[in-house]
Amino acid sequence: MRIIFTEDYQQMSKKAADIVVSQIILKPDSVLGLATGSTPLGMYKQIVNTYKEGHIDFNEVTTFNLDEYYGLDKTNNQSYYYYMLENFFKNININMERVNIPNGTADDIEKECLDYERKIRNCGGIDLQVLGIGRNGHIGFNEPDLKFEALTHIVELDQQTIKDNSRFFDTIEDVPTKAISMGIKTIMRARKIVLLASGEEKADAIHGAIYGKITPELPASVLQLHPDVVFIVDKEAGSRLD
Ligand code: F6R
Repeated sequence: MRIIFTEDYQQMSKKAADIVVSQIILKPDSVLGLATGSTPLGMYKQIVNTYKEGHIDFNEVTTFNLDEYYGLDKTNNQSYYYYMLENFFKNININMERVNIPNGTADDIEKECLDYERKIRNCGGIDLQVLGIGRNGHIGFNEPDLKFEALTHIVELDQQTIKDNSRFFDTIEDVPTKAISMGIKTIMRARKIVLLASGEEKADAIHGAIYGKITPELPASVLQLHPDVVFIVDKEAGSRLD
């Protein structure tokens, strides 16, 4: 495991963007695993800037998002599909046929989850997975639990996560209570993983993920077992690491 300490959110975003950009330069047909939420917004902006400067081409890149709210149509402006389109995909030359995000309104959710796993496998697996981290240590929407959920599955969101994510919705009642998420095994199979964390409210989760016991009660702790993972933290998120 590598830990990169950065001064602030801007620097964290730049470092993360550099890793994604070099991945695409080295392997133009890379398969990327992507995250949503507040944390990677700056990274997406930086990648888009590099794209606009003409340094990278997304034509052959395939993407798989970590998760999607259950019950939100992709046209809903709170869906992760909408987020990805607005913040990233519409600003780069990605082929939308190579973009994969779980369908939160699929009739048969079990089948949707199995198909998602199959698609990842058929693309040769994820080369680089970008992660954020929840205050409770979740990665994707793998919430603290008694066991690690392996593959893409439907999740009951934690009260903490619902509260944290209510900032994006009009009222807390509007926050979906379920989501479809890649599982821990899906994430751990990625060849490389980069996890970003910014802000004091992530300091405990980061400390636990790096130094704590490996336990499904703090899902990110499983990353200690991954052979190629880098944590990029700003000053506040890394404040409990010395
Ligand atoms: C998002 C995801 C979540 C977020 C986490 C942190 O696709 O999988 O695990 O990364 O909830 O969210 P922010 O960045 O909004 O603090």
